[in-house]
Formats: sequence, C-alpha cells, structure tokens
Amino acid sequence: MVAGEGIGYFYRPHFSAMQDTATLAGLNFELSEEQIAVRDAARDFAQNVLKPGVIDRDREQRFPKEEIRQLGELGFLGMMVSPEYGGGGMDTISYVLAMEEISKIDASASVVMSVNNSLVCWGLEQFGNEEQKRKYLVPLAKGEVIGAFCLSEPEAGSDATSQRTTAIDKGDHYLLNGTKNWITNGGTASTYLVMAQTDAAKGHKGINCLIVEKGMPGFVVGPKEDKLGIRGSDTHSLMFQDVKVPKENRIGADGFGFTFAMKTLGGGRIGIASQALGIASGAYELALAYSKERKAFGKAISEHQAIAFKLADMATEIEAARLLCLKAAWLKDQHLNYDQASAMAKVFASEVAMRTTVEAVQVHGGYGYVKEYHVERLMRDAKITQIYEGTSEVQRIVISRGVLKG
Ligand code: CAA
Repeated sequence: MVAGEGIGYFYRPHFSAMQDTATLAGLNFELSEEQIAVRDAARDFAQNVLKPGVIDRDREQRFPKEEIRQLGELGFLGMMVSPEYGGGGMDTISYVLAMEEISKIDASASVVMSVNNSLVCWGLEQFGNEEQKRKYLVPLAKGEVIGAFCLSEPEAGSDATSQRTTAIDKGDHYLLNGTKNWITNGGTASTYLVMAQTDAAKGHKGINCLIVEKGMPGFVVGPKEDKLGIRGSDTHSLMFQDVKVPKENRIGADGFGFTFAMKTLGGGRIGIASQALGIASGAYELALAYSKERKAFGKAISEHQAIAFKLADMATEIEAARLLCLKAAWLKDQHLNYDQASAMAKVFASEVAMRTTVEAVQVHGGYGYVKEYHVERLMRDAKITQIYEGTSEVQRIVISRGVLKG
C-alpha cells in the first residue's frame, strides 16, 4: 500500500499543522481500494469475532487472548511495519481506519493493537538496530508475541522526566531497579520497552530505553489492576529488582530514552485518538439504531427533536474527530511533523468519546444503563482515552507550546 494515498492534501511542508488548513491548494478525501479493504476486514473481524464475547470478557476482566492471536494472524498487530520485518507495510491512514472499527466493538482489544503497533513496533523499527529488529521486532510485527511500553511510574505519570527507575551502567550490562505502573499488556507481553534513569545528573538526557524480556531474573509482574473500563485489557505494575539487561538491549545512543519515549508517544497518540473515535462512533451507531426502533408518545424517539438534535451533535463531532485523526495520520505518512496534530486529535477525539457515550446512554434511557446494550461499557471505556498516552492536560501543554511558538 502506498503511504499517503487518500486523504491526500496538497500540502506545503514548511507550513505548520495549524496553518495549513488555511493554505491548502486542494483536498482529496477519497480512500484507496486497499484502505477500504483494510477497514472492511477490521469491521468484519470486530463484528464476527470480537462482538460475541465482549460483554462477558468485560464482566470477567478477561483478556481477549484467542481474539488477539487471530488479530495478529491477520496482520493487525504490526500493520505499519515494513514487510522486511514481518509487518503489513500499510500506511497510518489504514491504521486509523482499522483502529476505529476494532474500537467500536472492543476497546480492550484495540488498546493491545495500538500499543503493539505504535509504541512498541514503531519505536523498534525507527530506532532499533538491525540485530534488535531481527530478534524482537519480527515476532512482534507478526503478532507471535506482544509488547509493552513502560514509562509511567507511581510518581511519574504526566511528569515523565521524573523517572525513579534506575539503569546503572555496569560495563556489559545495565542493572535495572524500580517499579512501573499501569502497564498495558503488563502480564501478557513478552517484550518490554522500559525507560530508566542511568545518570540522574543529566536529567532527561540521562534516561535510556532498554528492551527487557519476560523471564529475566528479578523481573516480577504485579497483580492485574481492577479497572473502570477496558476491563479485558491486561494492566499491571511491574517490579525490577537487580535485573541484568545486556548493553546490546539499549535502544539508540546513551541518553536517548526520553526522546525515544516522546517521539514514540507522538504516533501512539494517533492510535489512542482513533480508539476514542471508534468508541464514539460505536456508541453513536447504537444510539442511532435504537432511536429508530424505540417508540414514545406515538412515534420513534428519533423523530423527537430532543433526540434528533443529540444525534446531529454526535455525528458532527465524530466527523470532526475523524478528520483530525486522519490528518495526523496523513502528516505522519508524509514524514512531516505530527506532534501537534496527534495531540489535537487525541484531546478532541477523547472528549468527543466521553460526550458521545454519555449521550448514547441517555438516548437508550434505562436500557442504556444495563450491560446488554453495550453503551454503558463504551461510556466506561471512553474515560481512559482522556488519561493514557498523555492526559488531556498534557495534550494541551503540547498544543499550546506549539501555538505559542508560532
Ligand atoms: N520529540 C522529541 N523530543 C521531545 C519531544 C518530542 N515530541 N517532546 C519533548 N522533547 C524533548 C524536549 O525537546 C526536551 O529536550 P531538550 O531539553 O533537549 O530541549 C525534552 O524532551 C524535555 O521536554 P520538555 O522540556 O518539554 O519536558 P517537560 O518536563 O516539560 O514535559 C511533557 C513535557 C509533554 C509533559 C511530557 O513529559 C509528556 O508527554 N508527559 C506525558 C507522558 C505520557 O504520555 N505518558 C503516557 C504513558 S505511556 C501509556 O500510557 C501507554 C499505555 O500503556 C497505553
């Protein structure tokens, strides 16, 4: 698939993400045949494979193990990785489309897809050396194993430079000590990208990213978190006690770890924005269908303006969120700066997800409050999109710094 086909703006690279909408020479909103095929394959998988068990998995906090295996087999866990390293070679637009479809049905599955693709595979492909790519990226891209991205700590969430986990240089290896919190895929991953402080005197320039394997002596997976939403996803704290990590497992030059984390999160935020978009559009589609069936005061509730206007607002906001996601994806595919665009997509789409799911429950009335109708789960799932991979407040820091820089 050719990167950048469809949603192709005739774009002048020297303009910022803010300015270009005012200076476009032309727009093309058409998707390529390949992009449509990827979207439709993701939609079929979500409807036929993920939907049947999604309520039970949420109730039981059960990881979608078999479903994720199949998602990997279909190529969705490493969809943007080059075929040379076992991936699908697709563009970021296709990724957004697929993430939306999977997230409409099961956000617990789509977060696995997002973390594996954006935070783990992309980071390894961009910044790993050839040996690291052969050893770790290939099985991750093929979906044979899954990965985790370990930045957050008990006292370092938004303030990500304050890493307390240490990686002391011992010559041929690093000695890793510390605790990571809220790690997606924490129990099920095999490969962990762990940020840790090697030289505190250098601040964020003393942070490294190490590839840690499950089973390395001293690496302990803590209990699974009992969460409000995305309850099927596997979130754990991780403990490292004198874990010896070989020097060859460091990604990039000494001190590159914080830049690695920031650059990787820039793309990760496109994934989570698309997840939020999918949660919103899933809830909207359910509310629309229900409003046409449910009758009150002698007619379908969709014919009451009180409901019709809610649907109009949902549809408008979702379309705006989709365009922001696709624009950030397009910028990434064009190798242009997408940090602000991905932050805008994430903050907007996650807030749309929250508003839309709350309204979708309202449209369903009492039925919306019970599990069978799916919208209460989508409402619970929406909340995390305002928190992980940078809270809405962090996105506004990124956006406002860009705005003020001009
Ligand atoms: N690309 C490259 N470098 C970047 C960068 C980027 N996008 N953003 C910042 N940097 C560099 C800066 O240039 C700076 O380097 P110099 O000092 O050499 O200039 C350095 O990084 C520090 O940057 P700041 O001064 O901007 O740092 P800050 O302390 O003000 O924090 C922040 C900035 C945006 C708030 C950042 O800390 C941040 O993004 N925090 C949120 C962290 C986050 O998203 N965590 C999510 C955890 S992962 C997760 O949730 C995954 C999951 O499981 C689902």
